[in-house]
Amino acid sequence: MRLEDALRTNAPTTWDPDTQVSLFDNLDPAFVGDFWAGMFSMSTWTARVVASSVDFTGTRRFLDVGGGGTPYGIVLCQQNPELRATVYDLPQACEFARGKITEAGLGDRIEVVEGDFFVDAALPGGHDTILLSMILHDWAEPECRAILDKCWRALPPGGRLMISELLVDDTKDGPVDAALMSIHMLVETFGRNYTESEYTRWLTDTGFDKIHTIRFEALSANGVVIGTKA
Ligand SMILES: C[S@@+](CC[C@H](N)C(=O)[O-])C[C@H]1O[C@@H](n2cnc3c(N)ncnc32)[C@H](O)[C@@H]1O
Repeated sequence: MRLEDALRTNAPTTWDPDTQVSLFDNLDPAFVGDFWAGMFSMSTWTARVVASSVDFTGTRRFLDVGGGGTPYGIVLCQQNPELRATVYDLPQACEFARGKITEAGLGDRIEVVEGDFFVDAALPGGHDTILLSMILHDWAEPECRAILDKCWRALPPGGRLMISELLVDDTKDGPVDAALMSIHMLVETFGRNYTESEYTRWLTDTGFDKIHTIRFEALSANGVVIGTKA
């Protein structure tokens, strides 16, 4: 993966930024199936831990931005009969999501919206909770701030934004799983895994308050940073 080049240039080495816009652009069909299936398995496990660690009482409309196969939408709907969810993602991910939602028998409670959070003027509205799971680590700070701003604008007053990630310590050298994921992001994207302090600062700058973090142990996240729109 040309790790040394990635470290020296702070640019991905597993695809060519001169011919692709991002890791998710121009995808090889073989990669597409494996990528979202892998993400779905890993994130279903994490979603169960998040569902038992975070209080979703009162959440009625849940938006999973860049939700892939929407493991979070599925797990949360299975556990909360009054919840309805929307998954918003690029068209190829939405196709995968439709299959998973049908398999789970949740076609009447989970809506699929195709979109691009850098291109669309707004994210789907009408949701009291928005999740960004393993989204921000794919992008550099300016793109992360742009996504956070769109989430803020899509929420009603009192709405919550949740960022689920493997959070890196302030020293940026651990915990090991978060640091390894960060190296993975270094070679694959223009992002890296960020710290709780970085997310807290960005959420504050965006206008969120009551910012706090709930910690747990799971495969693809060790915490959820939550902010509320005043
Ligand atoms: C690392 S995956 C995370 C999937 C899911 N949230 C999870 O935790 O399992 C990143 C997701 O971001 C989506 N994505 C990337 N660029 C996007 C864009 N411009 N607009 C919307 N979704 C995007 C990808 O299609 C992919 O599903």
